[in-house]
Amino acid sequence: MVATEAPAMQERKEKRDPREKHVPVLAREIVELFCTHLGADASGALLDGTLGLGGHAELLLQALPALELLGLDQDPRALELARERLAPHAARTRLFHARISEIGRVLQEAGEPRLAGMLFDLGVSSMQIDEAARGFSFQADGPLDMRMDPRRDRTAAQIVNTWDERDLADLFFFEGGETRARVIARAIVEARRRAPFLRTGALADLVDRVLRAGARAGKIHPATLCFQALRRAVNEEGEELRAGLAAAERHLAPGGILAVISFHSGEDREVKRFLAEASREGRFEVLTRNPIEAEAPERRANARSRSAKLRAARRLPAGSLPPARDLVRAHSSPLFARLRRGQR
Ligand SMILES: C[S@@+](CC[C@H](N)C(=O)[O-])C[C@H]1O[C@@H](n2cnc3c(N)ncnc32)[C@H](O)[C@@H]1O
Repeated sequence: MVATEAPAMQERKEKRDPREKHVPVLAREIVELFCTHLGADASGALLDGTLGLGGHAELLLQALPALELLGLDQDPRALELARERLAPHAARTRLFHARISEIGRVLQEAGEPRLAGMLFDLGVSSMQIDEAARGFSFQADGPLDMRMDPRRDRTAAQIVNTWDERDLADLFFFEGGETRARVIARAIVEARRRAPFLRTGALADLVDRVLRAGARAGKIHPATLCFQALRRAVNEEGEELRAGLAAAERHLAPGGILAVISFHSGEDREVKRFLAEASREGRFEVLTRNPIEAEAPERRANARSRSAKLRAARRLPAGSLPPARDLVRAHSSPLFARLRRGQR
């Protein structure tokens, strides 16, 4: 049985105040980014679309004393903990139980403030993973749930027990990067004929058995990629990211700063593509030619930071031309050189 930690250890983990354990990733870089580009006396509102336990929000409220913070999270438990943490800044903070895709509604409710910044720190928090009852963990047995937002109908169990073999395989491959997706999907479909999967432990055990039979040994737990794929599907993480990027374009004030921290290569590609196109069309100025990654001390201290990639951009006024250096870059690209030579 792979999916169980010693119950006492698990209980201790869950009892600890999650805020003690949760360390915001790339925190110094985020504060520096907003302070440098907005100025320490910036006014208006900063929207944190993934408030979590309020780690980044707290630092930004401290560093930018004239800004109001609008904090969103789809997880009511995270909001509750963030509210306590941000209590000293309550006069400048408004929190909303909402998804990124509901930013339009939130801004309307908030009276359409001038938006100076937007931050998305994507994915799950350590608090969500550590609580076995949330069903994100392959290390602690819990219900196969994985919903960050309890308003959602679809759970991981529903996907595992009802999707056909091909769809499951595609999900594990495309959203998790699991190369043995087909074998795992086949094994799931066979096993669920006997009994549906209801617990994370049962699913993690099955994936472990299947992959070990193929003699794949790796550094990560064998079920990591399948669990990631399921979590992304349950919480519609791809759609949410796209909605967030569109909301940044629509709602950020000219000069406003967008920062996105992603932990998944597909997500980083999506952000990169969006910003490249927006920069070519003069809608954003890219501030991070390459993504900012955690430095060695942070990587050592916080394993989660190792896959973090931060990209940032500044919203340009409508109708502005791409900044000069982007034009230079575009004009010196191999494509431009071919076009100049009249080649296709
Ligand atoms: C990595 S944590 C954020 C941590 C936070 N930056 C901090 O310093 O405490 C991600 C949080 O975003 C929330 N979240 C993820 N996707 C979301 C979405 N589409 N809409 C709203 N909240 C989301 C999760 O519930 C989780 O609490």
